[in-house]
Amino acid sequence: MDNLDIKNKKEVVLFTKEEIHKKVRELGKQIGEYYKDKNLLVLSLLKGSFIFAADLVREINIPLKVEFIATTSYGWSTETTEMVNLLYDLEESIEGYDVLIVDDIADSGLTLEYVIQHLYKKNPLSIKSCVLLDKPSRRKTQLKPDYIGFEIPDKFIVGYGLNYGDYYRNIPYIFTIEDK
Ligand code: IMP
Ligand code: MG
Repeated sequence: MDNLDIKNKKEVVLFTKEEIHKKVRELGKQIGEYYKDKNLLVLSLLKGSFIFAADLVREINIPLKVEFIATTSYGWSTETTEMVNLLYDLEESIEGYDVLIVDDIADSGLTLEYVIQHLYKKNPLSIKSCVLLDKPSRRKTQLKPDYIGFEIPDKFIVGYGLNYGDYYRNIPYIFTIEDK
């Protein structure tokens, strides 16, 4: 991993594997109760949410469908409207489904806002969102996710699907990389 200079950094654990699992179980239970008489379609945003979504769907005890969308964001200097780029879209119609968008983290909120606007045009029955982590202090939109695992301060978070230089997604706990 010679592209990552972490020699003078240390790892600080924010949420352990056990804490994450407990929270994911609680979210799955709440979601299962709310959607039990609905037609749930879980929409995982790639890449960041793939681990969270995989764990979450296994804690939702009702029939559901799983779909994926892939987006990238361009960075902070770009205009809002150009921030999010859709790389992979849904192939099938979502009319008649209650869509729950699942993402790893709500930061500026621009990704979720973009995906919600995009999905509205496809005419689903309803759209809600679920994030494992929420950094409300960074928000640049009105977005408030419907289901939130943990609210966190403005720090760069890694692990459990979240990347640093495209690595660390496989680490089973969530941590920050801080100066020694
Ligand atoms: P947004 O700013 O809410 O649009 O977030 C865009 C995406 O940036 C998220 O879905 C994450 O994949 C990524 N992201 C935001 N904050 C962090 C972080 O602290 N660590 C790793 N990825 C992040
Ligand atoms: Mg993401």
